[in-house]
Amino acid sequence: MSIINIFKKIIQKRPNENDYGINLSIPSLKKFLTYLPPNPMILNVGCGIGQDSKFLKENGCYVLGVDSSKEMINRAKVYAPEVKFELQDFMKLEPSVKYDAIWCSRVFHHMVNIGPEKFFGQAKNLLKEKGVLYLTSVASDTERGEIIKNNLVIRGLTENSFKSMVMENGFEILDFNYWDDRKGMEIFARVK
Ligand SMILES: C[S@@+](CC[C@H](N)C(=O)[O-])C[C@H]1O[C@@H](n2cnc3c(N)ncnc32)[C@H](O)[C@@H]1O
Repeated sequence: MSIINIFKKIIQKRPNENDYGINLSIPSLKKFLTYLPPNPMILNVGCGIGQDSKFLKENGCYVLGVDSSKEMINRAKVYAPEVKFELQDFMKLEPSVKYDAIWCSRVFHHMVNIGPEKFFGQAKNLLKEKGVLYLTSVASDTERGEIIKNNLVIRGLTENSFKSMVMENGFEILDFNYWDDRKGMEIFARVK
């Protein structure tokens, strides 16, 4: 099943915004803001129903939220009408606008068909000099490969392989954390 159809099904099963991670990322969003200039331009990749975009907009950022799922974008436009959302595949975005930062939460591990060089290359195309990238991943015992979780094929990465993937693709790491249950991890990075 394509990723678009997977997320269509997932969102249809979750009619309530609170089922979709509202407030989950707030501590990380607050830390993200500390790395940014005032009123930064943010690209929210795989924005889902728009809760993180809404927070960023409320905290002084100019935000574009993009998602390749029509259902997610429709929900985002209702949930946060003050934010600009577009139905777009991140990999196909043209670098006509450059961003101070990219926020990409709970998305990268689903991008199993996109090689890391292509993903990070596109992130660098869209970021300004010294732009900031926030990225999360599921944590696994697999160094680099695919794993199955909740019946979905996702990218498997350990702490070391996640960090080295980010560094060997042109970013320096600003901060790294495991989430409390150590099943997920996040990286704050900057273009070298
Ligand atoms: C697990 S959801 C997370 C949504 C949101 N970031 C959050 O934390 O609530 C993953 C999202 O990534 C989107 N996505 C996956 N690949 C994408 C791509 N290439 N371009 C844009 N969005 C993508 C999916 O449609 C889905 O909405």
